[in-house]
Amino acid sequence: MRALVVGASGQLGGHLLAELRRAGHLAVGTFQRHPRPGLCALDLEEEEALAAALRDVEPDVVFLPAGWTWVDGNETDPERADRLNAALPLRLAARAVARGARFVAFSSDYVFDGAAGPYREDDPPGPLNAYGRAKRRLEEGVLALGEAGLVLRTSTVYGPELQGKNFVYQLVRRLRAGEAVQVPSDQVASPTYGPDLAVATLGLVERGASGLWHAAGPEAMDRASFARAVCAEFELDAGLLRPLPTAALGQKARRPLSAALDSSRLRALGLRIRGVREGLSAMRRALVEGSWACP
Ligand SMILES: NC(=O)c1ccc[n+]([C@@H]2O[C@H](COP(=O)([O-])OP(=O)(O)OC[C@H]3O[C@@H](n4cnc5c(N)ncnc54)[C@H](OP(=O)(O)O)[C@@H]3O)[C@@H](O)[C@H]2O)c1
Repeated sequence: MRALVVGASGQLGGHLLAELRRAGHLAVGTFQRHPRPGLCALDLEEEEALAAALRDVEPDVVFLPAGWTWVDGNETDPERADRLNAALPLRLAARAVARGARFVAFSSDYVFDGAAGPYREDDPPGPLNAYGRAKRRLEEGVLALGEAGLVLRTSTVYGPELQGKNFVYQLVRRLRAGEAVQVPSDQVASPTYGPDLAVATLGLVERGASGLWHAAGPEAMDRASFARAVCAEFELDAGLLRPLPTAALGQKARRPLSAALDSSRLRALGLRIRGVREGLSAMRRALVEGSWACP
């Protein structure tokens, strides 16, 4: 397979690129603001550059982990949220499919209102915030591509990464500095080990899958419990955690409270995303052994 990974400097994109190459595929990755050796510069806003990338790489599959992932930022600028997380990705998708490529996009548990999780793929979405609305529009556009379109909905991605900015990194850094950290006690999601998500994505693509798939870890877990698991794995003082209800946190964007994802369709294919204890332990090992960012 020839693959183009748009957003390979990010968390999931880094794992996708590594996994594609490990599996023997030809894969080209891109960055926007965080250059890495071996990655090409590409901005979704630059139409000519997108056309050139497709022409040069001639991908069979375009993976788009790129996006504007700051949920509260999306809320303050919903137009930018829609442009970066829906309109520009869909323009790229149309170009890719017109050249005969398949297109793989990533969506979020935030397309749900969080009233009744865990959610399956056929449960009705009802986003509460601008990020979730843009992701839903992305989903609809990619699903309209038919067999050429694949959407994976995921949740709370963690693991070793290039930029070191996911929740686990932030928590480890702040707790090691002796800082007290507020964590929501009532936001339930499905923490997802990033390297497994990359393997599952590739597994779906290799099986010729299209349509909508939930791809998240097996537990429905609130953020405070996840933070306590991080403390246990990284030997940090859980006494510094300050669990608070979402209503007391003053977050700009509304959050779905019970938004875990049911990924049993994925598991039925033999594609497994490990649970939190196993994932955190693998992350710690990878940080020691690998070339990822360290907290
Ligand atoms: N992380 C989660 O918990 C989570 C949960 C649910 C869904 N998702 C979805 O999963 C996907 C991957 O998430 P992630 O955590 O890997 O994100 P991430 O680490 O924030 O990476 C985002 C990537 O997008 C690139 N990018 C941003 N703006 C761009 C632009 N205008 N043009 C081209 N590239 C651009 C970034 O490049 P530079 O860094 O080089 O600027 C980076 O490579 C996203 O679609 C996200 O919405 C993530």
